[in-house]
Amino acid sequence: MRRDDGPSETEGRLETVGLVPAALARALASAGRVVVLTGAGVSAESGIPTFRDALTGLWARYDPLDLATPAAFERQPRLVWDWYAMRREAVLVAEPNAGHDALVEMERRVPAFLVATQNVDGLHARAGTRSLVELHGNIARVRCSRDHGVVDRWDPPPSDEPPRCPHCRAFLRPDVVWFDEMLPADALARAEDEAQRADLMIVAGTSAEVHPAASLPLMAKAAGARVVEVNPGETPLSRLADYTLRERAGVALPALVAAAWPAGDHGRGSSPAARAPGGGAK
Ligand code: OAD
Repeated sequence: MRRDDGPSETEGRLETVGLVPAALARALASAGRVVVLTGAGVSAESGIPTFRDALTGLWARYDPLDLATPAAFERQPRLVWDWYAMRREAVLVAEPNAGHDALVEMERRVPAFLVATQNVDGLHARAGTRSLVELHGNIARVRCSRDHGVVDRWDPPPSDEPPRCPHCRAFLRPDVVWFDEMLPADALARAEDEAQRADLMIVAGTSAEVHPAASLPLMAKAAGARVVEVNPGETPLSRLADYTLRERAGVALPALVAAAWPAGDHGRGSSPAARAPGGGAK
């Protein structure tokens, strides 16, 4: 855990509530507006691989240029379709973990709250987060590659093609954002607006390398927000963060909630207290 500025040394280092500096707990408890940017690390404890972790990340085993760009889909549409279909299956059997649940608890307590996620797994929504923007889309949805319309049924394709749009016969594709594509404009605008108005921005489980998502904490910081990083590893954001919790999200996010609202009722069925940090895929 590291603190760059803001609270006094005594507050930041000596007085802590578990792993959370007391000054951070107070800042969260009194914040009117909180934005949380999440990345693949938040779903790691649900058994979903991250992208850039050296041994277990997807980009250690696959080349994003072969799988996650419009050019890759043009070259090998069926390969790309199959890769996303495989990941979709894995996501559908995964369960939210204690980190997702802690953000649901946080939303109940903070007056204006938003989770902006880069994750396409839908686990924040399944955990119960309501104020949510999915910056990179959602892998459970399928859309037409030509007119962008979301489609929920299609005929079985021949073995060398993705399924086709029932309306225009163009190939169907996952409703996710690929490299070289724009983010959904409304989702990004809402995230940017809230980041610039936030008192506190929590950045959890992201390598903070992919823009424009990674620019959100910089915008928040420039507009005066305190920035908290939750990540077991260092990122380009670490040196800008006011607080860094070097822990897994499934541990640090529940600890943040417990520290900020110590007398709070965390007793909901799927609360941070009730779900083990490694919620895990089923
Ligand atoms: P990355 O794989 O780049 O980064 C995951 C981060 O999570 C790393 O910094 C890890 O240290 C951290 N981490 C691992 N386990 C964790 C845990 N249990 N708790 C907290 N943190 C943990 O994933 P993203 O930053 O989400 O985009 O990647 C951003 C985008 O790049 C993705 O949305 C995806 C990818 O290519 C597209 O596919 C367009």
